[in-house]
Amino acid sequence: MIVRLSNGKEIPMEMHKVRIVQKTSLVPIDQRLKAIEEGGYNTFSLRTRDIFLDMLTDSGTNAMSDNQLAAMMVSDDAYAGCESFYKLASAIKDVLGFEYVLPVHQGRAAEHLIAKVFVKPGDVIPMNYHFTTTKAHFELAGGTVLEIYRDEALNTKSTDLFKGNLDPQKFKDAIKKYGADKISFVRMEATANLIGGQPFSMENLKEVKKIASENKIFLVYDGSLISENAYFIKQREKGYENKSIQEIIWEMMSVVDIFYLSGRKSTCVRGGFIATNNKEYYELLKPWLPVYEGFLTYGGMSTKEIEAMAVGLREMTDTNVAGSAAEFVKYFVGRLIESKIPVVTPAGGLACHVDAKLFLPHLPQSQYPAGALAAAIYITSGVRSMERGTISMDRDEDGNEVYSDLELARLAIPRRVYTMSHIEYVVDRLNWLYKHRDLVGGLKFVEEPPVLRFFFGKLAPLGNWETKLADVFKKEFGASY
Ligand SMILES: Cc1ncc(COP(=O)(O)O)c(C=O)c1O
Repeated sequence: MIVRLSNGKEIPMEMHKVRIVQKTSLVPIDQRLKAIEEGGYNTFSLRTRDIFLDMLTDSGTNAMSDNQLAAMMVSDDAYAGCESFYKLASAIKDVLGFEYVLPVHQGRAAEHLIAKVFVKPGDVIPMNYHFTTTKAHFELAGGTVLEIYRDEALNTKSTDLFKGNLDPQKFKDAIKKYGADKISFVRMEATANLIGGQPFSMENLKEVKKIASENKIFLVYDGSLISENAYFIKQREKGYENKSIQEIIWEMMSVVDIFYLSGRKSTCVRGGFIATNNKEYYELLKPWLPVYEGFLTYGGMSTKEIEAMAVGLREMTDTNVAGSAAEFVKYFVGRLIESKIPVVTPAGGLACHVDAKLFLPHLPQSQYPAGALAAAIYITSGVRSMERGTISMDRDEDGNEVYSDLELARLAIPRRVYTMSHIEYVVDRLNWLYKHRDLVGGLKFVEEPPVLRFFFGKLAPLGNWETKLADVFKKEFGASY
């Protein structure tokens, strides 16, 4: 909820009380230097004990509600026929309107099953933008991901409110070029994570569905951030300002053939599911569930998380819950814009994304500016962000580097976890780093896994810029910060 103060300033207000807390600590800069060096300059390798604010991701790191925690206590652990599953199925029916449900351990497991069943070698899969795990699974099944966003999607200084829209003309062109029978399905990701958590509009979703239906192509909806996309439609799309989040979700779901999500985001639990009203699709997917995930009534999730997900699904339709991260992101982005720090605009659904190409213009993409920026942010603040740039792309079949469209350091806002003073601290340290950005150098790989290399890859600094940066920081703040 946004509250206007008497001085006219608007701030995002936490519409919850904090009743359980977790201790965090800010280790001194020399310890952070040691930690990032040992972690191969990859923020995924850092340990919680060395992190002050963990803004790596909003996935599985959100604060659960009292009702979610309470629901976990009454879960039914039956292997088959588990009552908790039926509560989840009933929440899915009520909130999303789907009859058939396949629970999976997390979002990528849903992508794996969908790819296994529907993606054939030689297929293409059009989408508004790829997500790392989506691309990996669809390509492993022999398909090619076809991103058909509008040019504006990659403009990090945009005012376009729906940068997650799929370009309808490019979709029609792709159908003409490849033939509808070569298209596994069209995928819409709400909100498009890798371009900054950018939403698509209801109008665009319906237009995509119309083109798809005319060509007998079905629509797959990645709803990992469904409540945030609905929140943005309510805020930004004409005609939706007076509709509830639930009404917007129902309207979106009316055009969806297969829905899946990572429950780690909007629903604030650890798990995922596939849902549909199409019995034929369901029957094709179902036999593979026990092979890869688990029996139908738990599918790889803990029954406690299933209970919490049933509650989380209903809770995410509350406007204050749906907007809790989005409003913090907006505030965070706004504060950085005041200091002229290059950030992705408009503010998106899950994180504040700093544009590393503009922040560190002296670094070529071959030196991984987003990875270098994420390392520098950690060294100078203890805040863990995530590289979303070329390191997050894998090499092509010939071993060539594939340069990412964008080089972003992502500072995620886990829902209901951090407070305004946390945000102000990050804003301050980013300001300091921006003033000293010339000190930040590039990175090179020293250990490079063949797939999803950003998870376990190890890098090293080119030169010893990290020590120089730390020395300048210590001169200003002392060694204990
Ligand atoms: C849009 C989107 N789809 C799929 C996934 C994969 O989900 P999971 O991490 O639960 O496997 C994610 C995770 O961040 C995501 O953001």
